[in-house]
Amino acid sequence: MARAEHVDSAALARLIGGWRAEDVPLPHALADALHELIAGNVLVEGAALPPQRALAAALGVSRSTVAEAYAELAARGRLTSRQGSGSRVRRGRGARASAGGDHVVEGRLASFGRARRLVELDLSSGALPALSLVRDAVSAVDLRELDVYLADDGYYAAGLPRLRTVVAEQYSTQGLPTEPDQILVTSGSQQAVWLCASSLVAPGDEVLVEEPGYRGAIEAFRTAGARLTGVPVREDGLDLDHLDRVAHRAALLYCQPAAHNPTGISLPAAGRERLSGIAGRHGVLTIEDRSCADLVLDDRGVRPPLPEPANPGLVIRIGTASKLLWGGLRVGWIRAERPVITRLTQAKAALDLAAPVIDQMVTAELLTRADLARRERTRRLRAHLADAAAVLAGLRPEWRWTPPHGGTALWVDTGTDAVALAGRAREKGVLVTAGPAFSPANAQRSRLRLPFWRPVDQFAQAVELLG
Ligand SMILES: Cc1ncc(COP(=O)(O)O)c(C=O)c1O
Repeated sequence: MARAEHVDSAALARLIGGWRAEDVPLPHALADALHELIAGNVLVEGAALPPQRALAAALGVSRSTVAEAYAELAARGRLTSRQGSGSRVRRGRGARASAGGDHVVEGRLASFGRARRLVELDLSSGALPALSLVRDAVSAVDLRELDVYLADDGYYAAGLPRLRTVVAEQYSTQGLPTEPDQILVTSGSQQAVWLCASSLVAPGDEVLVEEPGYRGAIEAFRTAGARLTGVPVREDGLDLDHLDRVAHRAALLYCQPAAHNPTGISLPAAGRERLSGIAGRHGVLTIEDRSCADLVLDDRGVRPPLPEPANPGLVIRIGTASKLLWGGLRVGWIRAERPVITRLTQAKAALDLAAPVIDQMVTAELLTRADLARRERTRRLRAHLADAAAVLAGLRPEWRWTPPHGGTALWVDTGTDAVALAGRAREKGVLVTAGPAFSPANAQRSRLRLPFWRPVDQFAQAVELLG
């Protein structure tokens, strides 16, 4: 394979292996992975990479992801592209030792623990470490309950009954009466988003997403073949006048009114009421992603689910244990009307049969103490937010940002080209994500998403290096 002139797409996909890196835009992560193979001489000088479409299919990504990755490699001087003969590897002299570009490769290696650590400060992810409650719950798993499941085959396609009950109770307590059979347990809310995208959207459908918005959702709907239209998110949340103008022509709306990633904005109660009214009036299927809802920074508590429009079933809710408890549990869920749950359960079963039982047991136990966990998260995040605000006021008074109502990050307007800023920071060992990663239109170039939950000295160092 290494010496092959033409590199086969399936073989290359196998070689690349687990190339996705959390919170690194897909094209960038793919470019890093290919760069690594070139630097290691696995892909030799002159080897022809597969056509974009073939590699995209083999990796399960959109063609534009591969096109952007190839373009990035060309910009790094590791690929030449010629009309008719495709893209060929260019190792160049000293490819392995060169300072600037190969930082990226080594950075990725560092994140896999395979090489010396060059990424000093990774602020590319807003995901939080676990609460200590999680460790306690793991060590206190009820073995008698486990025995019951062990005597069974362990495949609960829609989720462990106890977890479905606890999640349903949470929705009911928050004002949305819910029965356990209206809940499907998924592998994180990421899988929930992908299941909705692949099962509820047909190629060519117009899907409304937030601008800026959650990049995992943008990628999921794009991969499903949707035509994406961005609805602006302003300082007070989703632009509802804009939504009202475009909703009639859309097949689906994906939004996060409770707490929005990446801006941290919560739509006020009147706005949530109006949003639901617009969805109902235009009959647009709406996905309310409540993944960040538990991470509340202000005094107004967890925002309740969107009110149900007159036509029940029009709003599908997505949730997760990742933010409140720990992403490593990989437990999320979908709340919908029964026929939709049945359909999505079939789609999930086709993918991975069912979610892991022990993780669900731990999550069910912990969700009975969700209020305690929320208070703990809020207390810590507020302290970090205050520290981060002080750092920015001191080091970057020219950067603009709106205090978030929830979440783990600041959506900062640098007033300059933040993509270039993030690129230069990368070379100094600081990973941050610039605005276009969160934009369906590749816009938001002056923005950076800055997670603020790390120790203040790390945050300050990163901000300094971003200068
Ligand atoms: C809005 C939103 N939805 C979904 C997810 C996926 O999270 P998980 O799969 O860990 O539940 C995230 C993670 O950052 C998110 O911010």
